[in-house]
Amino acid sequence: MTIANSTRARDIEYYIHPQTNLQAHEQNGPMVISRGDGIYVYDDNNREYIEGAAGLWCASLGFSNERLAKVAYDQIRKLGFYHSYRSHSHEAAIDLAEKLIQIAPVPMSKVLLQCSGSEANDTAIKLVWYYHHAIGKPEKRKIISRMGAYHGSTAVSISASGKPEMHADFGLPFPQFRHTENPHYYRRHNEGESEEAFATRMADALEAMILEEGPETVAAFFAEPVMGAGGAILPPKTYFEKVQAILKKYDILFVADEVICGFGRTGNMWGSQTYNLQPDIISCAKALSAAIQPISALLINEKVYKAMLAQSGKLGSFAHGYTYTGHPVAAAVALEVLKIYDEIDIVQHVKRVGAHFQKGLAKLADHPLVGDARGVGLIAGLDLVSNKKTREPLQGASRIQDQAKANGLILRFIGNRVAFSPPLIITEEQVDEMLARLKKTLDKAHSELRTH
Ligand SMILES: Cc1ncc(COP(=O)(O)O)c(C=O)c1O
Repeated sequence: MTIANSTRARDIEYYIHPQTNLQAHEQNGPMVISRGDGIYVYDDNNREYIEGAAGLWCASLGFSNERLAKVAYDQIRKLGFYHSYRSHSHEAAIDLAEKLIQIAPVPMSKVLLQCSGSEANDTAIKLVWYYHHAIGKPEKRKIISRMGAYHGSTAVSISASGKPEMHADFGLPFPQFRHTENPHYYRRHNEGESEEAFATRMADALEAMILEEGPETVAAFFAEPVMGAGGAILPPKTYFEKVQAILKKYDILFVADEVICGFGRTGNMWGSQTYNLQPDIISCAKALSAAIQPISALLINEKVYKAMLAQSGKLGSFAHGYTYTGHPVAAAVALEVLKIYDEIDIVQHVKRVGAHFQKGLAKLADHPLVGDARGVGLIAGLDLVSNKKTREPLQGASRIQDQAKANGLILRFIGNRVAFSPPLIITEEQVDEMLARLKKTLDKAHSELRTH
């Protein structure tokens, strides 16, 4: 048995993989990634892949980094752990919180730190409830998000996600959670309906849900600027403008989930800037630390903070927290990542390379298997179809995923959709290579379809 084979056998023997068919995994084993360099990763046979999904939309600076290794090493030597409970603190968390407030897309007041996007959104939901208790509206409990949205895997954050397949047999979602329409224009518009008219229909559906539930029971609305795990779906024109007017009308807090969009992905520092969002709370993670360390942040506005302040005074404590809140190593790495973004002007870089990427995508839209290709900055979704006219979704896209891997390309396949979210440091030449590998894959899939 080779070493690689023994590694695979031990994986099957001991390791449970999230979001994986465990039976298929026992048959097929893992894909073992052994190292990374820039936008490339290498498997245990030293085969190279372009990581067109940046892992899980997160490895913004690529898959290895000397400078960040040094920062982590120095921080571990200086202070490898300290907590933030009961007024204890350390410089790394303070510096990071300050920096996040400085770069926030709308005026924000304070920062809470956690270890993952799920924890950030879980915490956001607790804060929404705490806030409404504090202002004397404890009956405002319901959280509305969209079908197709993904906000995390904890019991609460998955309840906020519009992912029935991730609720099944977990007995979820919890009763306070509602899911309004998925604003997926390409798939869900009526014949001849413009993006604006579709957005109005989506906003009307949200308002109808709020009225049916009773506005006095609705606490918050959650949305990603661009829906990621739902299939890299852009909001239709005027959607957020209309939705935000409704939230204001019924005094509903708006939580922007910037876990994927934050830190340059859409061609601005925040997705909220790209779509002119005015959230009360922002969750972010992933590119916050370039995924090199597990850390997430919640940015809250003064209105939410003031209520928390009063409530913690009344109760004697803000009774919430995690051992690793603001972990010094993760915070130090995140702070350095934000410095790197400044130095390389990540926003301008994504604007420039993103424009090139979107041009390349537009060309791919002519491919017979591509029904729709839309993106912004360095995120995009392709809708694969077997019939462009009827928009019939292509079946068996997982075969194409395997073929893409055989061609040295890792992308995120979600049903019949293919999502791109390459590391933000990708160059124009690398974009061309990534798209060429996908085109080669699609050409082969198309010719196979025709011969069957
Ligand atoms: C928009 C969004 N929110 C939250 C999460 C959950 O983040 P994590 O996996 O770090 O818990 C994800 C993960 O993909 C995400 O895409």
